[in-house]
Amino acid sequence: MSFRVGIITVSDRAALGEYEDHGGPALRGEASSRGWEVVAEAIVPDEIERIRAAVLSFSAQGCGLILTTGGTGIAARDVTPEAIRGIMSVEIPGFGEWMRFRSMEITPNAILSRGLAAVVERSLVVALPGKPSGAVECLGFVEGALTHAVRLAAREPTSC
Ligand code: MTE
Repeated sequence: MSFRVGIITVSDRAALGEYEDHGGPALRGEASSRGWEVVAEAIVPDEIERIRAAVLSFSAQGCGLILTTGGTGIAARDVTPEAIRGIMSVEIPGFGEWMRFRSMEITPNAILSRGLAAVVERSLVVALPGKPSGAVECLGFVEGALTHAVRLAAREPTSC
């Protein structure tokens, strides 16, 4: 299935231009290689309201799948999960569980990520770690469920 995708990099330093964003381009490459249409991209600081505004804007623009990268950890400024939980209708715990479980084969630090997936409006939002390779790895771990989840989030008829 070809998704309309929005990609949000959550990073204070990238938003200030102090650091070149690598996570967003890495996810754009992954989306493009799968034939998904990237229709919106943004870099926002680690601020709850800015993250929420970007997610809601991308959802209103018709992004069925919204990927965020960054801010899932345990540092004081890491608030991506809180931002998403404040606007979601439902969380899908299996995404976060499976991303952490599979990532532990790669690095023990994977347990520090609070990555998750949730339905916001009619979009599926998947919050991935900030490290570009980690974001790409986690997307790969859950991609098998994306088609069904995006359809359900969009309230389209499905076979089950
Ligand atoms: N998951 C995978 N697959 N690969 C990784 O390199 N990095 C971890 C973790 N999850 C990583 C990963 C690290 S080091 C941290 S601190 C947490 O994600 C949170 O990252 P974030 O705060 O940038 O989102």
